[in-house]
Amino acid sequence: MSSALTDLAVLPTSDADPFSLENLTDPLPLHAALRDAGPVVHLSRYDAYAMARYDEVHDSLRNWQDFESSSGVGLPNFRHEKPWWTPSVLLEADPPRHDAPYRVLKDILSPRALRRLRERWAADADGIVNALVAGAGSGTVDLDAVPDLAEAFPLRVFPDEVGIPSEGRENLLPYGDHQFNALGPPGELKDRHAARAQELLAWVMAQTSRDVLSADGFGAQVWAAADRGEILPEHAPMLVRALLSAGLDTTISGIAAVLNAFALHPDQWQRLRAEPELIRVAFDEAVRWESPVQTFFRVATRDVSAGAAVVPEGHKILMFLGSANRDPRRWSTPEHPDPDAFDLTRDPSGHVGFGMGVHHCVGQHVARLEAQSLLTALLPRVERIELTGEPRRHLNNTLRMWESLPLRLHLA
Ligand code: HEM
Repeated sequence: MSSALTDLAVLPTSDADPFSLENLTDPLPLHAALRDAGPVVHLSRYDAYAMARYDEVHDSLRNWQDFESSSGVGLPNFRHEKPWWTPSVLLEADPPRHDAPYRVLKDILSPRALRRLRERWAADADGIVNALVAGAGSGTVDLDAVPDLAEAFPLRVFPDEVGIPSEGRENLLPYGDHQFNALGPPGELKDRHAARAQELLAWVMAQTSRDVLSADGFGAQVWAAADRGEILPEHAPMLVRALLSAGLDTTISGIAAVLNAFALHPDQWQRLRAEPELIRVAFDEAVRWESPVQTFFRVATRDVSAGAAVVPEGHKILMFLGSANRDPRRWSTPEHPDPDAFDLTRDPSGHVGFGMGVHHCVGQHVARLEAQSLLTALLPRVERIELTGEPRRHLNNTLRMWESLPLRLHLA
């Protein structure tokens, strides 16, 4: 009997499909079932493995030696399948190849480097919020928080800061949607923009060339790093592509999540109004609670022991970041027994919503600054946030997003 068969005999198995529309709509029951089944579960449908508990996800994300990214962080295994695009030199690369590009972006997107954006982004957030509340006669404003805030603000500031031209920006969201859907199995979601995928990718790549980027944005800074010899010149467009791929939909999801969280937990909004210094905790708690990036795959580089069993070399392992972020084994404490509660008194640090280890989100400070700018603009003007209708999910194979979030802002 092969070792893989022996392992399947001792490993818990699930025939659930994490990418079914039902599980994407409400992943929490599946997460709980996978966590309870064991530290590693065989997903029979995909002959892949799942880790859904905090400790295993956290430790495996840090263990790039055993769990590689260069065979793809989606279901397609680049050892056997040709990727739909040229693989990323960051997300789909391992050290040492990954390290120079990472260092370059880490510098460009460091909290220190972003300081120069604080005032401008605060003014942009004020502008968006002022336009929404202007003329609110009755003291309330009804809006759809997805297009009006969660998309409006990142779309206002992020593409400008990368430095791409205005024309064609309507391609950014379908492009982002597709590349995160492409990490899942064939089906409705992967097909959604498939017919335009190469056209969208070609448009994005056209925005990465030095001559179309503005002089001082993130994109130009990537090219300057190439000029200094810190990365290969052919990697510069790939890094600009990485910003446009990873920076928008994720942040939109995070901002929508924090607004929804406050609508569902009005006491937490009151707390934030009383203690505005909790804004940073608020966004990280929302990233823990919602986990905009729900899952990423890795591939085992050798037979890796998992308790009594072995994950065989070359197989895919699905890391459930969203499940790890609500695992009671990590998050249930005497002071905060319920991991499903959005609670500003919790310390959310250590959550894996931005990943962990060598791929730890290099743009997290950008996302935080965007969310903080928007919350800071809303805080003095809004007394209470109320849901006025049924929110609608935007399903994606990787991201947890909203299509519509009907809110009423009760003005202060
Ligand atoms: C990596 C989440 C915003 C750029 C990651 C990873 C996660 C993540 C989970 C780890 C991937 C892995 O381990 O394979 C998020 C969330 C965001 C966000 C939840 C917003 C709330 C951003 C922004 C940018 C960005 C604004 C760009 C400015 C990147 C890049 C990587 C990455 C380039 C690849 C890093 C690497 O593989 O070394 N992000 N991200 N992200 N993120 Fe973010």
